[in-house]
Amino acid sequence: MADKKIIAVTGATGAQGGGLVRAILTDPSGGFAVRAITRDVDSDKAKALARAGAEVVAGNVDDEASLAKALSGAHGAYCVTFFWDHFSPERESAEVRNMARAAKVAGVKHVVWSTLEDTRRWVPLSDDRMPTLMGKYKVPHFDGKGESDHFFTDEAVPTTFLLTSFYWDNLIHFGMGPKKGQDGKLAITFPMGDKRLSGIAAEDIGRCAYGIFKRGAEMVGKSVGIAGEHLTGSEMAAALTKALGQDVRYDAVTPAAYRAFGFPGADDLGNMFQFYADFEDYFTGVRPLAVARGLNPALQSFAQWLAANKERIPLA
Ligand SMILES: NC(=O)c1ccc[n+]([C@@H]2O[C@H](COP(=O)([O-])OP(=O)(O)OC[C@H]3O[C@@H](n4cnc5c(N)ncnc54)[C@H](OP(=O)(O)O)[C@@H]3O)[C@@H](O)[C@H]2O)c1
Repeated sequence: MADKKIIAVTGATGAQGGGLVRAILTDPSGGFAVRAITRDVDSDKAKALARAGAEVVAGNVDDEASLAKALSGAHGAYCVTFFWDHFSPERESAEVRNMARAAKVAGVKHVVWSTLEDTRRWVPLSDDRMPTLMGKYKVPHFDGKGESDHFFTDEAVPTTFLLTSFYWDNLIHFGMGPKKGQDGKLAITFPMGDKRLSGIAAEDIGRCAYGIFKRGAEMVGKSVGIAGEHLTGSEMAAALTKALGQDVRYDAVTPAAYRAFGFPGADDLGNMFQFYADFEDYFTGVRPLAVARGLNPALQSFAQWLAANKERIPLA
């Protein structure tokens, strides 16, 4: 343990961080040890990580001092924020600043920051193809991350900028799975027309991050886009039909109709899907599948992910 490089992981009890924790623990000869950062070291999830072999420490991304302590002595840090816990890009930005400063104080040698595009570089606020939200964002949960990238460079923290993509796990946890229409038939609904959605198994994000830590210094200063597959709604529906053994249709609604669904975050997600669709070539191009597979040879396709997870998709 003493000669291993410690990777400290925010969100360790969650999707992205959890994937990284498991990737490190299942590779005991890889030269890395994992330190799971959690707000509650006594939670069931935190205790399970400790039993699995992780060091578990307290830390909160809203509290810079707690992070500096949690990162002390670590070689690397995986930094992720939790937009959907609070829906505030400003708070997300403050959290990134806390993580960057703490990494600086702790002298961390390699940060992997889970970021996304600041979509306003492509769709300025003056572009009315989609509404401006919260006064100054187009896709708040993307923009707040992208505009915070500079905190790491400002602090001269050696950082890899990891551009993630849509989790297929959203079909399980985020209410995006197939739903029965009035005709009783199952359908998935996205405002993507015939454009491709870059998707990934959430677990594979952490595994790709592990690949980045293993490569080390050569990855510092780079932006790395990852996806497991780029699929149209029709292709996703066809894969679901095959995996579930019942017909699943793709309902391609307009972005405006999606924004009007009215659930919390529908406007943010409507704009997000419109960004994916309108900038399909950019979005998929910056996330070549070969890059993710190079970092994580076990990268799953949508069909593989479905084979392992189809029973977990609620079919309401
Ligand atoms: N859903 C998607 O398709 C998608 C795609 C790309 C990017 N993202 C982004 O992914 C991010 C969320 O990552 P995730 O899905 O891995 O999260 P997650 O599964 O919801 O996990 C969140 C974990 O983070 C911890 N946490 C929450 N607030 C914290 C705080 N203040 N300080 C320290 N830890 C805290 C919690 O652990 P404890 O309770 O143990 O502290 C929780 O287990 C979001 O910002 C989202 O925008 C999502």
